[in-house]
Order: sequence, then C-alpha cells, then structure tokens
Amino acid sequence: MTSHNPAPLPLEQQAALGSGADFWSTKEVGDVPSLVLTDGPHGVRRQVGATDHLGLAGSEPATCFPPAVGLGQSWDARLAGEVGAALGVESRALGVDVLLGPGINIKRDPRCGRNFEYFSEDPYLSGRLAASWVRGLQGTGVGASLKHFAANNTEHDRMRSSSDIAPRPLREIYLRAFQHVVQTAQPWTVMCSYNRINGTYASENHWLLTQVLRDEWGFDGVVVSDWGAVQDRVKAVAAGLDLEMPGNGGTADRQVVEAVEAEELDADVVARAAARVVALAAKAEAGRAAPVPAFDAEAHHALARQVAARCVVLLKNEPVDERTVLPLDTARSLAVIGEFARNPRYQGGGSSHVNPTRVDIPLDEIRALAGGADVGYAAGYTTDGSGDAAALRDEAVGAAAAADTAVVFLGLAAHQESEGFDREHIELPAEQLELLAEVVRAQPRTVVVLSHGGVLRLGPVAESAPAVLDGALLGQAGGGALADVLYGRVNPSARLTETVPVRIQDTPAFLDFPGEHGHVAYGEGLFVGHRWYDARDIAVAFPFGHGLSYTSFAYADLELSADAEGITARVTVTNTGEVAGREVVQFYVAKPDSSVVRPPQELKGHASVDLAPGESERLSVLLDRADLAYWDIRGDRWVVEGGTYEVRAAASSRDIRATGTVEVTGDALVLPLTLDSTLGEVMATPGAAEALGALMPMPQVAADNDVLGVDMARMMASIPVGRLLAFAGGAVTPADLDKLLTQLNSAQA
Ligand code: BGC
Repeated sequence: MTSHNPAPLPLEQQAALGSGADFWSTKEVGDVPSLVLTDGPHGVRRQVGATDHLGLAGSEPATCFPPAVGLGQSWDARLAGEVGAALGVESRALGVDVLLGPGINIKRDPRCGRNFEYFSEDPYLSGRLAASWVRGLQGTGVGASLKHFAANNTEHDRMRSSSDIAPRPLREIYLRAFQHVVQTAQPWTVMCSYNRINGTYASENHWLLTQVLRDEWGFDGVVVSDWGAVQDRVKAVAAGLDLEMPGNGGTADRQVVEAVEAEELDADVVARAAARVVALAAKAEAGRAAPVPAFDAEAHHALARQVAARCVVLLKNEPVDERTVLPLDTARSLAVIGEFARNPRYQGGGSSHVNPTRVDIPLDEIRALAGGADVGYAAGYTTDGSGDAAALRDEAVGAAAAADTAVVFLGLAAHQESEGFDREHIELPAEQLELLAEVVRAQPRTVVVLSHGGVLRLGPVAESAPAVLDGALLGQAGGGALADVLYGRVNPSARLTETVPVRIQDTPAFLDFPGEHGHVAYGEGLFVGHRWYDARDIAVAFPFGHGLSYTSFAYADLELSADAEGITARVTVTNTGEVAGREVVQFYVAKPDSSVVRPPQELKGHASVDLAPGESERLSVLLDRADLAYWDIRGDRWVVEGGTYEVRAAASSRDIRATGTVEVTGDALVLPLTLDSTLGEVMATPGAAEALGALMPMPQVAADNDVLGVDMARMMASIPVGRLLAFAGGAVTPADLDKLLTQLNSAQA
C-alpha cells in the first residue's frame, strides 16, 4: 500500500473498516492492509493462533516491565520513554502494530481494582509520564492507544455506570492528562471507555469524542472502542468512533450501511472514520518498515531490573541502636520471611497480564548479593489461607530471632485485586500483620517489603517496623531490583504517586464509591488525592510525593520568573549525605487569593537530579502556563488568572523546602453582559455606572448605608439587570436595556 484515497471506497468497505476482523486485528479491505492491536500496557500480550473468545488465554513470552503503579513511582518521564521504546521493539518482534496503552485514568479511590494499571492520583504527573511513554513507543513505529477515555475510575459496573462529574473536575482532573498526551505526543489511537459520562456512553459521546478530542484538542488519529464497549454502532459512529473492537462478524457494519441508506447517519461521517482507519493502516505499514533493534530478552530483562529499582519507594528508615537497618550489611546474617519472597507478586490480573520471559525470585536475588552471609528463609504465611498460620508464624519468628536482621515480604495476592472488580477495603491480611508484630518483637532490625497494586493502610506496618520499602508491582525483574535496593547497590529515589491515608474513611470518595444504580457521583469535585487531604487538613500515613533516600538533600535559592511560556522555577539542590543519590524535586503551585475554588496547592512541575555526595546543581524547571489555568464554566474555556502565585519547591506534598511568589499576567476573560448579568457585574464594566445612571437613576444609598438595616449596595449588586425593569416603573424598556448592554459589550470587545 503506498497511498490511499478513501473517497472511492464503496460504503460497504468503509463500514467494514470500522470493525475488527477478529479479537486482535482489523480487516484487510481492498488494498488496505490489516493491522494487529494487542495489550499492553506494561508488556506485550501477543496471542497467536486460535484464541479464546475473551482474549484471555495464554500469550507469547514477553518482558513484564513494572506496571504503571510501579513505573509511576519513578517520577521519571525519561525512563517511562525508555520503557515505551523497549515495548515498541518487542511489539515489532511479535508482529504488533498498536500496543493498547498507556492507561492514564486518575486513581480517584484506592479501592479501584485497576489502579495498578494507572499512574497516579494526579493529572500533571500521569500526563507527563504517559506522554513520554507514548513518544518512546511510537518512535519505534508502533502506535499507542491512550485509554480508557474517559472517567473510568471504578471497575464496579464499569460497562454501564455513569460517571457523574461537574465540568471543572472533569476538565481539570479527569481529562487533563488525556489532553496533555494528545497534544504533546499524538498517540495513534485513543480508546474510549466502557462507562457513561454524565449519562452518555463514552462510545456514543459526541461531546467527548468529537467536540473535545478532535475539535478542541486537534486529535487526528483513530478512536477505537474498548473491547465490547459499543452497544449501538450507528450512534457510536455518529459520535466519532472509528473502530469497533473486537470484530463481531460484520453485523454492525451492515447496520452502518443501512443507517446511511436510510439517511439516519451522515455518509461523510462514515467516510471520515474509514479514512482514519486507512491512515492508521498506512502508519502501521510504514512502522513495520522502520528500523528497530532486534528483541534481546536478556537486555530487556536487565532494563526491567534497572527500571524497577528506580520504582522502589523507601517509606521509612529509622535507626535501631543508632544505625539504620537499610541498606543491609553483607557482613550480617539475614532471615528472609514471607511467601512473596519465593513467589513474588509482580503484576496485576486481567487483560494486561503478561507471560514473562523469566521471573526474578527475590530470595535468590538477595542470596546472590548477600556476599556469603547466611540467609535463612521462612514462608511465615500462605496467600490462599491454607496451612497452619500459628506454626508458620512461629517458624518465621524463630528464623528472625536467630539472624542479625529480618526482611519481611508482605502484600496482596493476585486474587485480592484485579481488573473487573474493586476492593472493599485497603487492609493487609490480618495474619500478615500479626506475623510482622511478632517478628519485630523478636527482631527489632526488621525491614518490610511491600507488594501490592492498590494503596494499603500502612499505619500498623509503619508503627511496627523501623524500615519499609514499597515495591508496589515491579514486573518480572522486581526481585533483583529489590535486592539492589536492600543492599544499597541502588539508592532508592522513587516517590509515592498516591497518598497513603490513615484510614479508608479519610479518602475523598469514601461516601460515593463505587456508586449505585448505575451512577457514580463525583461528590468530592476537584478535591482528589492530595488536593483533598490538604484542603481538609487531614493527617495522612504517607503523603503524595513522599520517598526517602540513603542520602539527604538540601534546597536553596528558589528564584521564580514568569513569561508567556509559564513560570520558571530555579532552585539549587545539594546532596548533603555520604552516598550518591537522585532527588525528585516537586513544584506545587498555590493561588490563595483565587477568584475560584481551588485546592490549597497543586503539583505543576517536577525534575530529578542525580548528585554525588557534596555535589550541587541548579535546576531550572518550566511550570507550563497551560497547567496554571482553571476551567471557567462561564466561558467554557481555560483561563489563567492574573496576579500573585505562590510556588513551593518540595520533597513531597507535605515537605515544602522553599517558597516564593511570582506575578503572572492573566488571560483576558471578557464575558458578554446579558439581561442576566448582575448589577455588580455590569457596574464593574468601564463606563457602566454613568450609562446606567443616565438610563435609570439608581437609588441613592445613604452614607451610613443603614436605611433598611442592610448594606444596600451589596444587596443590589446581586440583582440581574433585567429584573431592574420591574422596579423602574415602566420608565425603562427592555429595548433600552438591550441597547445599553450592546454598547457596553462592544466597548469591552
Ligand atoms: C480492557 C482494555 C483492554 C481490552 C483488550 C478490556 O477489557 O478494559 O484495557 O485493552 O480489554 O483486552
């Protein structure tokens, strides 16, 4: 296929291009070749030969990189790009043209079963990591599928429920990362989600798929449905859907043809959708010809280990007898405890499940780095509830007491969290907590290593153990990466991408999750994640952005300046400790005098820096002007407010190291005056007081303003000008007022 002009394609062929040939590929139509789409996102799940009808059977071996929950913790966009590129190489090797990822839904509630597939509770961070991932992948000639568009934040009833969201949170929280990725990384495809948004299915949502995605954001790729998300193809095509997946034998293609023939569906809309699928096929064909390195499974495993080590968060590392437990000392014996040390939990369940090329066993990797020191092992618990819990615990406590240090692996098993259902709580299994308490009693030098896809209540862990490493899910090389961090071969530098609450009752969506009777009320509005805990001044177990290091860093000389691009923040970071390390510097922006409701602070920039002991570096980070904007519901547009902004350079959302202010020039927001505008709004317009006074003498307000025991001026300010007619005794006509408003509006324009 060299070039295509879709116009000559007959209607039947255009409609045929709009749905898959089978579970994972599109149809070959005329000289338009078929292409292969496959999950994604953290590895290539390529099924060859006959597959089951749900596409969940076995797949070809591929590298299982850290799922988004882990990768996000790196806060490292460059690294996300490297992972994207490696996935592209594997996709090419396995004959995949479009990899179904990244997933960038906001983690609204820690109980969402699919949070492991998403990056963060924060739209800025999700957008930055995902954009880089997409660029990395697409640089290899393989397309991305940005998913799940949009507001798919619960698994419960996900194929029917409506996410009921007000315009500001929808734009500022749930669509913002999508907008960033679409506009800066141009994904080949966007996958529309199963759910409804404010009552309309994403797949049938013209506002979402056409007005916002294409007309506002300029998306020119293919909108593909989530698998089985289309319930009415004709409505979906009219709304802006291009490709329905999986294939369904052509039934819906015929409905599209019939709808056009009956003049119920615009033929041009079908032609445009077909043209976009043709263009995608052309990109895939060109992609297959682009040079990429051969897939080297060993090299990718090594990369997966390097990436995973960058994703491990050191939550806590307190001294015991004046010496921190981490990094471990190779001269000392160790007891490794926990089933997950032998059978690691490293990825989530469902459509993203990868068949790994190999899996690092943490216990083996720890032994490999222990330098000959004795490393004992006890399972401590089972993950399926079998066995004698007391006996397992006693054995583990004995092993811990006999060694110099204990490392206890705790976490959630695959059956406790997955795509397709939500958790009902955020607790670790009780027997694991009991085990930990007893191990620490016997062995104060105890480190906990956590494996889980969703946030856990960590109070009991943090109160008991002096050191805690959070691995979330680290992919197939997580075992080696954990050993690297435990022994200090890698200095931990990752940061939480989600707040760890003290208890589930403190979480923003606690009362509205997961919704009922087909509706999820997004009652917390803008106040998602750290925005909520800060606004309500709620104590947390570990704040958003938190993560320690084996060294320490100092921040100095924050300087701010603003121009048309945004705010540039400069700050000097110094490694004040004894080992090399990486610091993730976060920039939170506040506008305390804002004219609209805003969270107390929002993440708007970050950078990371690798520093040798004693070394300093001056960072310069641009906080994009677009990210300073709020969504104005009156003008239906983004607006940057003018005035003073406060910028905080921070090591976490609750560890602010330096603060400064900067003046930003605002966007002009001229709202046309109407009969519904209040007297206050009209009077704020230049020339209005005189013009209105001439038309209709305003009641003179006494100097003491106390005629009726009220502030008359304030009371009148809220009256819509149109209503003044009622008080003008017929002396002013609607036409007079209209004329006046037209005059004022043209003076403002
Ligand atoms: C999931 C998507 C996935 C698709 C294909 C759906 O159930 O929501 O994320 O890409 O299946 O497996």
